[in-house]
Amino acid sequence: MRITKFLARAGVASRRKADQLIAGNRVKINGVIVTKPFTRVNPGDKVTVDGTRVFRPEPKAYLLLDKPPGYLSTVSDPHGRKTVMHLLPDRETRLYPAGRLDADSEGLLLMTNDGELAYRLTHPRFQVPKTYRVLVEGVPTGEKLKQMRSGLELEGTLTAPAKVKLLKPGGSRRSWLEITIHEGRKRQVKKMCASIGHPVIKLRRTKFALLTARGLRVGHYRRLTVSEIKQLYRLVGLPG
Ligand code: URA
Repeated sequence: MRITKFLARAGVASRRKADQLIAGNRVKINGVIVTKPFTRVNPGDKVTVDGTRVFRPEPKAYLLLDKPPGYLSTVSDPHGRKTVMHLLPDRETRLYPAGRLDADSEGLLLMTNDGELAYRLTHPRFQVPKTYRVLVEGVPTGEKLKQMRSGLELEGTLTAPAKVKLLKPGGSRRSWLEITIHEGRKRQVKKMCASIGHPVIKLRRTKFALLTARGLRVGHYRRLTVSEIKQLYRLVGLPG
């Protein structure tokens, strides 16, 4: 098995993070620094990250969290701020978020140690839809909504086509939009809304792939069912 896959399966990091660990010379196999992400790990090899032994993969776990605003979607924070880990049972320390929500955003966040699934659910190549309910300032015109749907230039590149619905104008000052994107660049929804002149006041992720918040309360989580896990695997082209 490749070292990146080994680290992802062992719940140490997503595949993308594993690449970064390797690039930082932090990973060793049998005492030798790994320099290439496709280096193979063989049975009996001793793998370490920052000198700590990494053992073979643990059983996989999948929790769907409805994140409240005010929590960081990271595993730990050097400044001691609240993270989503504070909302999970103590024993679930090996999980990490598949993708991210800004600290002031709320909604669905999948927490898992299944690195391959997390990687595919969040990488733009796999085109997994994420839907957001967004309260914005003002009422966007039909023309502005069309621009958002067809693609906007953000930091020099065009966004991929998005689904955008005006749900209900909240008077002349604010409106609710429903936006579905497949990319997931950093703060993408906020940047898209700001770029058409309607800054985001509130943002909630209501759908992640095929998962919705039905039956979940804000700040709570539930385990995915076997059928949901199978559907997610199918969606991103993973066998089994
Ligand atoms: N887009 C954003 O701008 N923020 C989020 O938290 C998620 C998507």
